[in-house]
Amino acid sequence: MAGAASPADRNPPILLGVTGGVAAYKACELVRQLQQRGHRVRVILTRGGARFVSPLTFAALTGEPALTRLFASAQSGEAFASSIDHIALAQSAKALVVAPATAHCLAKLAHGLADDLLSTVYLATSAPIILAPSMNVNMWRHPATQANLQTLARRPGLAIVAPEAGYLACGMVGDGRLAEPAEIAAAVETALRPVPASAWAGRTVLITAGPTREPLDPVRYFSNRSSGRMGFALARAAAQQGARVQLIFGPTAAEPPADPGIELIPVTTAEEMAAQALARFAACDAAILAAAVADYRPARPAPAKIKKSPDALHLELLPTTDILAELGRRKTHQLLVGFAAETGDPRPAARAKLAAKNADLIVGNDVAQPGVGFDSADNAVVLVSAADEAALPRASKDRIAGQILAAIAALPRPVPVPANSGGLRA
Ligand code: CTP
Repeated sequence: MAGAASPADRNPPILLGVTGGVAAYKACELVRQLQQRGHRVRVILTRGGARFVSPLTFAALTGEPALTRLFASAQSGEAFASSIDHIALAQSAKALVVAPATAHCLAKLAHGLADDLLSTVYLATSAPIILAPSMNVNMWRHPATQANLQTLARRPGLAIVAPEAGYLACGMVGDGRLAEPAEIAAAVETALRPVPASAWAGRTVLITAGPTREPLDPVRYFSNRSSGRMGFALARAAAQQGARVQLIFGPTAAEPPADPGIELIPVTTAEEMAAQALARFAACDAAILAAAVADYRPARPAPAKIKKSPDALHLELLPTTDILAELGRRKTHQLLVGFAAETGDPRPAARAKLAAKNADLIVGNDVAQPGVGFDSADNAVVLVSAADEAALPRASKDRIAGQILAAIAALPRPVPVPANSGGLRA
């Protein structure tokens, strides 16, 4: 019931949602782990969750009634005086943790359904959210579950603690076992740590990504193996740090990021990419050119399919617009970052490009190294600026993206100068 503020009201709770999976018993240990770290815990049980562990168990562990209903009922004895109390509850939370989160729960949260207390609180809270899924291995691997996870993973402020591989209650062995309570509690601590104000907040950044396609005739084209994943990771990381991102990307099988704050600008050819980049550059604070732009294009794409013939086929190829060099010429206040994909030590070429293209930073990588660069989930790069050279060892492209953004933010801030005057610096 509503009443005078108690000491508990001044200690915002971690809301722990427990859904109907056999791992629900582990939520009892998670309550303890969170309490040992000094947190107040309030438990929200779904209907399924309450069938595995009784509300009474959680009430005894937390010293507060476990919450099971969206609306108060005369018999419930729960602390809901009116139908808006779930909003107050959601807003009072310092974090919302769901452990275990069943496949059904993930589907509901991914699609924004709000038919019980937990799913309603999920929509209404602005606190960090930590989901710890647990289910049968086939349910975990099902494309529907994986699609829901991808949707959820893209949401800002939401972390997923992946299940472990191991023996499952259903008798199968595989992914799907709830992460250990200590690991979930550690993820909660990480989510609660204040995020330092980012130099990217409110900045406009132009990013190019992926390959370009240069048509030879209506059915054939020149392209390259770039997946676009490095540029996509940069776009995602910049948007998560509060930047407004304009992502110009060529045709690729990789899914472009759907985060809020990212404007997607799909293009096909180098000239289309150049037109978009040149039109947008003046209004940007930084440009990061991660695209593998074709250096040449067929001079005269055939209007109809080229038929095979016993004769040699001679093609005339024309250079495309060098977007990086062109932006380097037009640069006024913007930070300009290019990439140098080389086979072998990328540092000499990176340093040469830094000067030749009037860039502030060149990210060099050795594409001959196995497991990194083109078409890989990982990268290993060297950052070359006028004053510095730093090697970033092999890591996921997401991690490398964060490190590249930090390095760009640490560059000396350009002093606005008229275009074409040679890029004076402070
Ligand atoms: N780039 C560009 N426009 C082009 C070609 C490349 O903006 N038409 C950019 C890439 O996005 C990347 C950098 O320039 O940031 C790569 O530099 P570049 O000298 O073109 O690389 P390579 O073609 O690989 O260099 P080289 O031919 O010297 O090996």
